[in-house]
Amino acid sequence: MFWLLLIASYLMGSFPTALLVGKLIFGVDIRDHGSKNPGATNTLRVFGKKSAIFVLLVDLGKGALAAFLPLYFQLNAEPLYFGLAAVIGHCFPIFARFRGGKAIATTAGALLVANIHLFIIAYVSFFLVIYLTKYVFFGSISVGLSMVIYDFFSEKLEFEIVFLLFFFLLIFLHRSNIRNFILGVEPKINDKNLIND
Ligand code: G3P
Repeated sequence: MFWLLLIASYLMGSFPTALLVGKLIFGVDIRDHGSKNPGATNTLRVFGKKSAIFVLLVDLGKGALAAFLPLYFQLNAEPLYFGLAAVIGHCFPIFARFRGGKAIATTAGALLVANIHLFIIAYVSFFLVIYLTKYVFFGSISVGLSMVIYDFFSEKLEFEIVFLLFFFLLIFLHRSNIRNFILGVEPKINDKNLIND
């Protein structure tokens, strides 16, 4: 049952929301526009607010639903692992040739169900860092960092290795943002690149 639900979580996370919105509604592949990332931030940049809110909610829902699976099936297993399996699906989707998003919306859903305190800390940090820097990717990386710090100060240090790996995964997923920032071409939160412009 554990592995079955873990695979189901990965498949759920693999649902390519931004890609489908782009192809079905706008007739374009989001991976050819803006930052080329099939996530909510790039959807905002390329397709505008309404589509971005939809992508955000569905991607968040994938993580939340996956973390909820062990609770629903009364499995004695840590919900966070199922949420993270959905996050891996979101980043490396089997339904989109493993070219997925950068984890942030799906992680929010996973933490919302699995650990509400960590959700609040990680996403207050996300919005605060974006507010201060105006760069979404700094906020995104701060999500992973705050998870590592949170677990470091917890009694059991239960997830430290997992969170550290997740933090390094975030750095890897944001390598193009980091390179663009160094080159001075990374767009700020309010820079648009709408396909209709
Ligand atoms: O959550 C995604 C964000 O961290 C970066 O997205 O489109 O600016 O590469 P993007």
